[in-house]
Amino acid sequence: MSLLTCREEYAGLTAAVRATVNSACHLQIMTAARIVVVGTGYVGLTTGACLASLGHRVTCVDVDAGKVARLSAGRVDILEPGLSELVDRGLTSGRLTFVVGAREAVREAEGVFLCVPTPMGAGGSADLRAVEAVVAEVGDVLPAGCAVITKSTVPVGTSRRIRAMLGRVDVPVVSNPEFLREGTAVADFLGPDRIVVGSDDLEAARWVGDLYADLSAPTVVADAASAELVKYAANCFLAMKLSYVNAIAELCERLGADISLVTAGMGYDRRIGRSFLKPGPGWGGSCLPKDTSALLKIAESVDYDFQMLSSAIDENLAQRDRIVAKIARAVGGTLAGARIGVLGLAFKAGTNDLRDSPALAVSSVLCALGAELTAYDPAVGGEIAGMTVVDDPYQIAKAADAVVVLTEWNEFKRLDWSYMAELMHGDTVVDTRNLLDPRAVLDAGLSWQGIGRPLKRAPLRQGALS
Ligand code: UDX
Repeated sequence: MSLLTCREEYAGLTAAVRATVNSACHLQIMTAARIVVVGTGYVGLTTGACLASLGHRVTCVDVDAGKVARLSAGRVDILEPGLSELVDRGLTSGRLTFVVGAREAVREAEGVFLCVPTPMGAGGSADLRAVEAVVAEVGDVLPAGCAVITKSTVPVGTSRRIRAMLGRVDVPVVSNPEFLREGTAVADFLGPDRIVVGSDDLEAARWVGDLYADLSAPTVVADAASAELVKYAANCFLAMKLSYVNAIAELCERLGADISLVTAGMGYDRRIGRSFLKPGPGWGGSCLPKDTSALLKIAESVDYDFQMLSSAIDENLAQRDRIVAKIARAVGGTLAGARIGVLGLAFKAGTNDLRDSPALAVSSVLCALGAELTAYDPAVGGEIAGMTVVDDPYQIAKAADAVVVLTEWNEFKRLDWSYMAELMHGDTVVDTRNLLDPRAVLDAGLSWQGIGRPLKRAPLRQGALS
């Protein structure tokens, strides 16, 4: 059921993405370039399919032969609105192909995008082994003038390091960071706020910028180090903004204020803006945790103690602990033996990605403290250690002492809370995303406990299962 439900959930978004995709496909292409994209994860596949939709000839490379075969048959494993359609169109038009083996693929390329993972390595720095392996594989067969372009988030200085590894004056290295959010990656790619290209060879940087010319986005042409720093600076700013909002939400609880009103009042200030002001169970996902940790390491390497950033990371861990404490209070103080129904496991709605998911982090702590968890997520199935994952949201409520919303899926708003209340043993819904309409929960005879908002206490319940 998972992909289908997600698609329904995101029907509106998909329509918007389709409109963007369609208009991109009708753009007049000035010059079509021969591009190779190495790595077909979220970033690489989106980059490859979108560049093909802009008219370029794109070969996507992956080491996973099974994945290459599936993609060649038009089967996309990841949940990303609009992506399957773009892959289909690329395959049909012949502008998009999938192969195994970067060495063969790059021989005719004008630009090679590196979109391989750069996970958090030992000690918090980015692990560049995958990037280096590709550079070593293709270095001596790259045609003269072919640009090597880093798309994955890489530490400042990586362009220089790649140039040294290549040892070729005829191959420019360009940093072109991605700013794609999971769940809206295609729309973000085709309607970007900005394009950033950076290189010590400005002509090569401009050539990469021109690949996106039809998108008419503001383009920042920079030196390599500045371009590499933009991505970290932007993501860490977002993480700090979220930690700040979560801290203000905590203050709201202690002071009797309401975070939804406080952020409404803040967000209308154009210098602050309304996005990224929602409190939650902490920030996570595949980028913010690794990027905050990597920028701390980068700062450390140049003897700068980036206290503001380390506080934001600490605040994020504190938020998780506060959520766990809140859930413990909802079940009467002790988690050992408590039955908890969990709604949402993905790191945010619109994705089936569990990487560094705050929902999963909170759930693991609950399990470690002896709670019995039954969880439902519209996009996540299968087995997860320590909990029972079910495929019907109502099953999580059966005999639950508390129900906890951890991911902001819209479908949770439409649950029949009276039926949930009948199934539950306890009477509290802890809504860590401030997602639900508290009235719907109260009308069902349950208490609603959000984040940074006053507790709405249940009227006396009748008819609960015991
Ligand atoms: C992020 C960056 O936004 C993107 O620019 C970058 O390229 C990759 O990392 P993504 O990981 O898809 O994108 O997630 P995002 O939508 O930014 O959310 C990050 C985390 O913050 C999630 O855990 C989300 O639930 C949380 N969040 C976001 C909040 O808690 N409140 C908000 O208001 C927004």
